[in-house]
Amino acid sequence: MIKRAAIILAAGAGTRMKSPLPKVLHKVGGRTLLDRAIDAAEGLGCEKIVVVVGAHSPAVGEHVTKRLGAGAVAVQDPPLGTGHAVLAAKGALAGFEGDVLVTYADTPLMDAMAIDPLLDVEADVAVLGFEAADPFGYGRLIVQGDQLTAIVEEKDASEAQRAITASNSGVIAAKASVLFDLLSKVGNANAKQEYYLTDVVGLANAAGLTVRAAFAPEEVMLGVNSQGQLAEAEAVWQAGARARLMEAGVSMSAPDTVHLSHDTVIGAGATIEPYVVFGPGVTVDGGAVIRAFSHLEGCIVRPGAIIGPYARLRPGADIGEDAHIGNFVEVKKVKVGKGAKANHLSYLGDGTVGAKANIGAGTIFCNYDGFDKYDTHIGEGAFIGSDTALVAPVRVGDGAMTGSGSVITEDVPADALALARGSQVNKEGWAAKFRERKKAAKAK
Ligand code: UD1
Ligand code: MG
Repeated sequence: MIKRAAIILAAGAGTRMKSPLPKVLHKVGGRTLLDRAIDAAEGLGCEKIVVVVGAHSPAVGEHVTKRLGAGAVAVQDPPLGTGHAVLAAKGALAGFEGDVLVTYADTPLMDAMAIDPLLDVEADVAVLGFEAADPFGYGRLIVQGDQLTAIVEEKDASEAQRAITASNSGVIAAKASVLFDLLSKVGNANAKQEYYLTDVVGLANAAGLTVRAAFAPEEVMLGVNSQGQLAEAEAVWQAGARARLMEAGVSMSAPDTVHLSHDTVIGAGATIEPYVVFGPGVTVDGGAVIRAFSHLEGCIVRPGAIIGPYARLRPGADIGEDAHIGNFVEVKKVKVGKGAKANHLSYLGDGTVGAKANIGAGTIFCNYDGFDKYDTHIGEGAFIGSDTALVAPVRVGDGAMTGSGSVITEDVPADALALARGSQVNKEGWAAKFRERKKAAKAK
């Protein structure tokens, strides 16, 4: 039997974002606001999750369906307030008798840990609050002793109530039957003519139920309504993520310049130099060094490897132990063997580089013919001369060499030297004669 469900409100229009992308599909730490809200609900043991979406942005419903299935989507059309939104999820929770947790999809810093204290509250209705430095715009918590007697919205509050700093986060928990019963009695006789979820608190008091508040720190409350607030949330999240990594033994000399993703894994003893960007899906093992101005996504960097400065690792790059990937080298979907080196100005896309191979400056894996991609395999200990173009599919055997400037279109046997370029011709005195001829012509 399912014990706890979540209703996530995401039906707001998000007009202040001024973006064609729905608000909750914007990202913090490379993860959408919506997925963060779902993560929090899952982290709190909610086995059934319903996301209330608006009719205006089908992309949000599709996103939810992809992750949780169509049964997790409830459409609120038109949006008539937060209480009305929660009621829109009633059908999706038919027959469910456990506890319901209501959260918002646009508060990306409110993770499971922040909401957790609410679950320990023993009451018929529990509300998560916070002390606001500036409570303007928030619903105020009216508390008498232990009992939360009402939540009054900014626009409906008296002068005296507006002075209260205890504010409503929007997160609320109650038994499903209690919540939906109270919501059925909520009206819209207020300044905004909306059906307020917060009115269930006053109604619960009238019905003689216990209502209590738990408190969370204000920094996790940050709601995203504009691009500026999205950037603010990103900054707070990044600072927290960097602090956790340093706490776990990662060295960063200029942490404020390092950009992480929600799933970045960096082992203790790794060093991250200034201005490094980690896109999604990166693992860096302990003992690796990521030098300044490198950009990594979807890749793994093994112990002792040195990346950058100015390197780009793209999805599928697997950099082996003690390997070196230097400046202006781009690696995509290539497994680079132990101790191999590609130190300067190269593109390695699709294939493998054997252990201890040396890739000269300017080497290009020509992996694409405009339609399909092909692999290049470089054997162990091979030496690729500078400015070699390897036209895939192609193999260079173990210990083989290629001459600088070669265009390699055929496989190279192990321990062979491949030369695929015009041979050099020296024309004695030619340059001097050429200059004389030109000078004479000018003088005429
Ligand atoms: C709400 C609370 C307020 C609290 C504040 C915290 C109410 C009446 N007020 O105010 O007490 O301090 O949040 O940020 O609940 N939504 C829908 N459908 C609707 C309306 C809203 O899904 O019809 C969703 C929005 O997308 C958003 C959330 O509910 O995720 C909150 O709505 P919003 O309009 O921002 O409420 P506030 O006025 O900020
Ligand atoms: Mg709001």
